[in-house]
This record gives sequence, C-alpha cells and structure tokens, in this order.
Amino acid sequence: MSFLLEFVRDPMTVAAVAPSSPALAEVVTSTVPRTGSPVVVELGPGTGPFTAAIQERLAGRGRHLAVELNPRFAEQLATRYPAVDVVTANAAGLGAVLAGRGIQHTDVVVSGLPWAAFGEEQQGDMLSGVADVLGPHGVFTTFAYVHARWSPPARRLLRSLRSRFDEVVISRTVWANVPPALVYVCRRPIPPH
Ligand SMILES: C[S@@+](CC[C@H](N)C(=O)[O-])C[C@H]1O[C@@H](n2cnc3c(N)ncnc32)[C@H](O)[C@@H]1O
Repeated sequence: MSFLLEFVRDPMTVAAVAPSSPALAEVVTSTVPRTGSPVVVELGPGTGPFTAAIQERLAGRGRHLAVELNPRFAEQLATRYPAVDVVTANAAGLGAVLAGRGIQHTDVVVSGLPWAAFGEEQQGDMLSGVADVLGPHGVFTTFAYVHARWSPPARRLLRSLRSRFDEVVISRTVWANVPPALVYVCRRPIPPH
C-alpha cells in the first residue's frame, strides 16, 4: 500500500507525499533510551519510518505503542512490526488508550502528526494530552518542515509547545528529508494550573 495513495485519498490527514527519511527518523527518535524498559508512544506512525528506528533502539526492551488513525496504515504496521502494540485510534484519545492498558505515564512520546492540519483548539488539546501522559522526566519530540517554519500554524505549534514544556530545543536542519525538516525536543512538561 502506497503512502502517496493514502495522501491522495485523504491529503489533510496524511499531510505529506512521502514518508520521513531515515535521517529524520534518527533525530526524532534519539530520545528513546538505549537502556532500561521505557514506555514509548508513537503518534501518527504512517508506514513506519519512526517505528523502525524506535524498534531498533529498544532492541526488545520496554513497551512500544503506536496510535494511528488510518486503519490501512495501522494494519500494515501491525503486520510488519508484531512487537509493536498498534492501536487504530485518534491521538486525541491518548489518555484513554493508555488507561485501557493500565499505563499511567510514558517515558517518551514521538509524533508524526500533521499539526498544521489541526485547528487551534484540536492542536492544543492534543498537546495537553501528550503533556498529561508524560512523566516529569518524560520527553516529547515532533518535527516541522523548514519551508513552513514561519507560517502561522507552525508558529502556533511552537508557542503551544513552549506553553506546555519547560524546555523546547530545536534541532539542526535535517536536509536529508523531503522536504527538509527540524525537530522539536520538549522536556519537563508543565503541570496544568
Ligand atoms: C505526515 S504523516 C507522517 C507519517 C510518519 N510518521 C512519517 O513521518 O512518515 C501523518 C500521519 O498521522 C496520521 N494521523 C493524522 N491525524 C491523526 C490523528 N488524529 N490520530 C492519529 N494519527 C493521525 C496519518 O494517518 C498519517 O499516518
């Protein structure tokens, strides 16, 4: 099943014409610890470029959940990565997905979600949902395309991240991706007031 075909079917939800590159996957998933038994949640895995990198870093340790809205992507992913708990669901319901599995806190959340496709309220709710499920030492990574970095939706995303995380570090530009991208690494979720 082709990523491009899914883009043509639903351009707003898929929001990219090609999967992310291994170079981008390496930066986005660098937060997954190579030791211990972390709980890692992946949002919007698509055809799985980040899934592969997370699985490689976990090397059989910990727990890896992938939450994907598109049932065809989800089915393909579950077949290709039997060690991953693939959930066909909206990332907006992340808290409920984790609660249903008895998970209170996650160590790492990695996102491939198309933030620009979400309205302001939806984007804010999803980010609050992510911050809520991360433990105090948890870390969240997501990416943005360089060419759109200063567009209103991208600026809104950065503002939203900074209002929910004490530290937001912006990576170097990953040129080996179509289109080039940068990664936001967000630590120390700020508890809601
Ligand atoms: C830009 S693609 C990224 C796919 C993959 N992570 C990559 O980097 O190649 C966005 C993915 O997010 C999924 N998606 C969009 N909205 C979603 C939502 N609300 N909940 C879960 N997944 C969603 C899409 O189906 C698609 O697989």
